[in-house]
Amino acid sequence: MSNNIIQIKIEVKKPGLKRKLDEIIHSVEGMHVQMSHDTRRAGLLIFELGDDIDNEFQHIRSLLNSDAAAEVFLISENSDPAVLMQAIKTGAKEFFTLPLKEEEVKQALKELKKKIKRANRRNSPKIGQIITVVGSKGGIGTTTVAVNLAVNLAQKKSVQSVALIDMNMMFGEIPLFLEIKPGYHWGEIVKNISRLDSTFLMNTLTKHSSGVHILPSPGSLNGSASAVPEMMGHLTGFMQKLFDFVVIDAGQSTNEISLKILEMSDNILLMSLLSLPCLSNANKLLQSISDLGFLPEERIRIVINRYLTKSEISLHDAEESIHKKIFWTIPNDYNTTMSAINNGKPLSEIASKAQITRNLNDLADTFAPKEKNQTTRWWEILKTKRR
Ligand SMILES: Nc1ncnc2c1ncn2[C@@H]1O[C@H](COP(=O)(O)OP(=O)(O)O)[C@@H](O)[C@H]1O
Ligand SMILES: [Mg+2]
Repeated sequence: MSNNIIQIKIEVKKPGLKRKLDEIIHSVEGMHVQMSHDTRRAGLLIFELGDDIDNEFQHIRSLLNSDAAAEVFLISENSDPAVLMQAIKTGAKEFFTLPLKEEEVKQALKELKKKIKRANRRNSPKIGQIITVVGSKGGIGTTTVAVNLAVNLAQKKSVQSVALIDMNMMFGEIPLFLEIKPGYHWGEIVKNISRLDSTFLMNTLTKHSSGVHILPSPGSLNGSASAVPEMMGHLTGFMQKLFDFVVIDAGQSTNEISLKILEMSDNILLMSLLSLPCLSNANKLLQSISDLGFLPEERIRIVINRYLTKSEISLHDAEESIHKKIFWTIPNDYNTTMSAINNGKPLSEIASKAQITRNLNDLADTFAPKEKNQTTRWWEILKTKRR
């Protein structure tokens, strides 16, 4: 998404410093260094102070005041208090001394990126996160994870709304997992795509007692005959505007529609077991997704289900075979997962204390915004008052 790229203007004097900064910036995704003649507004100005400090600060202030640059990082050999004071007054967000510490700069860039992203989210209409759960094989717990992730997210205080879409054509099982009797499936929405508005959509979704809004898949192939990737893309994009999270059970499918959904995803959870066939499939899938270049490597997350510490294949072996870090492991617990499925209930309802339930709740925490801890905040205030 090119409009999310942060433009960086660099004004430095020392030979080599520009190249060093270019390298660091290049290693942080989503940033672009402007050419010297680029007059576009910069999200960040990186400026090296020299000998003519007063004039240089004047120049920086004029760039900030005219909004030619939104933020400024300073680099200087001179870190005496007077210079630091000026830097603070000017509103510099960071002050780096030479020689430059690569990690420090990288960290500051990442922080800035987060800050800009938060501000963009606040200013733009709601755009939820799409999390797609995709299996490297059938029967490995893709639906279990998608369903419980959606339910757990819906139960977080910081999350207001969650939708769950079943993309398993014909063999969608979400209604069974959550014991609901849906009136509609997405095949019907796609048939009437020109009528799609929020009222129509909300009327077709089925609300589970956890708060999750469910959109099942067509139970037969003819129900989705007219579904083309663009329409599913449009529908998913529309849902993204109404929900904080859109969790998608993509099953094991790699058809055109799933590709469209993978392309739109903010995060992909690629499910695998620690078995050779599964890892081999995961490898192929991972490679295909990377080749398509849909989303940065770190947004494709490998999840190992049914994990046993004494497995013949270690996590390390698995990581070597797929050339990627494993993001999450879910413990093996057939009885609890099966009991949840057979009762048509989420794990949090059937076995709230079980290790697997807590594990999947922690997985949801990695996506949900942090909840503000009121107790701690008041405690902090009291502590400072007592002093
Ligand atoms: N962590 C786990 N440990 C043990 N069994 C599991 C686990 N997760 C899922 N299962 C079992 O695997 C089977 C398939 O689960 P399901 O979620 O339907 O997978 P998929 O959607 O990949 O076909 C179910 O019987 C379920 O109980
Ligand atoms: Mg399934």
